[in-house]
Amino acid sequence: MANAFLFFLLLIFSSNIIFENIRACNQSEHSSLLFLALTLSSSQLNWTSADCCNWEGITCNRDGWVTHLQLPSKGLKIKGGIFPSSSLANLTHLTHLNLSHNALSASLDQTEFFLSLNYLEILDLSYNLLFGVLPSSLPSSHIRMVDLSSNRLHGAVSSSFFQEAWNLTSFNVSNNTFSGPIPSSICRPSSSSL
Ligand SMILES: *[C@@H]1O[C@H](CO)[C@@H](O)[C@H](O)[C@H]1NC(C)=O
Ligand SMILES: *[C@@H]1O[C@H](CO)[C@@H](O)[C@H](O)[C@H]1NC(C)=O
Ligand SMILES: *[C@@H]1O[C@H](CO)[C@@H](O)[C@H](O)[C@H]1NC(C)=O
Ligand SMILES: *[C@@H]1O[C@H](CO)[C@@H](O)[C@H](O)[C@H]1NC(C)=O
Ligand SMILES: *[C@@H]1O[C@H](CO)[C@@H](O)[C@H](O)[C@H]1NC(C)=O
Ligand SMILES: *[C@@H]1O[C@H](CO)[C@@H](O)[C@H](O)[C@H]1NC(C)=O
Ligand SMILES: *[C@@H]1O[C@H](CO)[C@@H](O)[C@H](O)[C@H]1NC(C)=O
Repeated sequence: MANAFLFFLLLIFSSNIIFENIRACNQSEHSSLLFLALTLSSSQLNWTSADCCNWEGITCNRDGWVTHLQLPSKGLKIKGGIFPSSSLANLTHLTHLNLSHNALSASLDQTEFFLSLNYLEILDLSYNLLFGVLPSSLPSSHIRMVDLSSNRLHGAVSSSFFQEAWNLTSFNVSNNTFSGPIPSSICRPSSSSL
């Protein structure tokens, strides 16, 4: 009897530790993701459970902030032709964004998420149908890898685009329809694939 009681206490104690250390998804990020799912006709996504940190393609950090959004090859399309930048912009702790190999057709011209994602390290939007010109600068000074290849982007790359990208080691915009000069600032020793 006493043993069972001790065991019970131990159980409560250990489960408290677990619950203290793992935070569920932030409610405002939860809504932003649902809004995103509405914008992307995402019939393959089963984003129904209560904690968005457990959803397919989502990873959170210990504080419950969404850090990874990785949905390559999910048949994603954009309803209305407007890039879902306001829902993405709300995921301010995002470090990895991979929406490659989908059918995203929208202009990248007015992408406010480029300005809000201050922790972004990896951006892969390759093999989509994105068009328009690139925003005036890369999203974050932490950016390490950008793959925008195999889209329909055009225009020139602004000279401010790489201004704060100290850690950029890979930048791929091949198989687009860029015109005009590529600024010399991207000719870093480690950059590749233009
Ligand atoms: C959830 O995110 C919002 C917006 O970023 C923030 O204001 C709020 O404090 C967060 N809530 C928790 C519990 O962290
Ligand atoms: C972004 O977050 C703000 C503040 O939390 C909220 O009012 C707005 O509806 C959110 N936008 C989207 C698209 O989720
Ligand atoms: C969706 O996920 C929930 C649990 O997260 C599961 O119970 C349900 O069967 C899934 N539905 C489909 C259609 O896969
Ligand atoms: C994005 O996902 C695809 C498919 O899983 C993968 O091949 C690619 O390497 C990923 N991109 C990055 C930058 O990790
Ligand atoms: C750049 O990379 C180095 C080495 O990984 C890291 O210490 C530094 O914080 C990074 N800088 C930024 C702005 O992310
Ligand atoms: C750059 O993108 C093209 C087309 O998407 C791909 O074939 C090539 O392998 C990529 N280069 C690197 C270095 O990743
Ligand atoms: C170039 O991009 C188009 C459109 O995304 C794609 O269908 C094609 O496979 C790409 N070609 C190469 C060589 O990657």
